[in-house]
Amino acid sequence: MILKVARLGHPVLRQIAEPVPPDEITSPEVQQFIDDMIETMYEYDGAGLAAPQVHVSQQIVVMEVAQNPRYPNAPDIPLTVYINPEITPLTDEQVEDWEGCLSVPGMRGRVPRHTRIRLQAYDRDGQRLDFVVEGFHARVIQHECDHVQGKVYLDRMTSMASLTFTEEFIKYGMGE
Ligand code: NI
Repeated sequence: MILKVARLGHPVLRQIAEPVPPDEITSPEVQQFIDDMIETMYEYDGAGLAAPQVHVSQQIVVMEVAQNPRYPNAPDIPLTVYINPEITPLTDEQVEDWEGCLSVPGMRGRVPRHTRIRLQAYDRDGQRLDFVVEGFHARVIQHECDHVQGKVYLDRMTSMASLTFTEEFIKYGMGE
C-alpha cells in the first residue's frame, strides 16, 4: 500500500520517533509496514524514507538507490532497512553535497555530512547490524536517520545560499 507522505510543517516530522521493541520487528504488522514504506519510496523515487515521513513516529528507515531518476549520478545502494539506528561519526571531516527530501518537495540544498560513520541498528529480521560506511551511502544514512530524530536536511545546512528549486537545479546544471 502506498502511504501518504508528510510534508514540512507536519508536527510528526519534528518528533523524536519511538524505538521499535526488538521482539516486535518480525511481527506481521511491522513487516507489512516496512513493505508499505518500500512501496512508497519506489512510488515517489525516493533514495530513502523514514517512518515519520509517512506519519508513523517509529525508528524505521528504508533506502535504495538503483538508477534513481531524482539522483541520476548517485552510486547504487542496495535495498536496506534499518530499525532503531544509531550513528557514530568516525571523522570530524564533513563534505557538502546536494540533498533533497520527499517531505520538502521540489527543493535541493547542499548539506555537510560526515564522510565516515559507524551504524548500529537492527535489520528487518531483527538481526543486529554494526558496520562502518563511507561516502554517498553514509550521506543517505545520515539523512534518513536524522528524520527519526525529528530533523530535516535544512537543519544541517550551514548556509541557505545553495537552496534551490529542482527545476532551476536541472536548468542550471547544478548537479553536474
Ligand atoms: Ni528526507
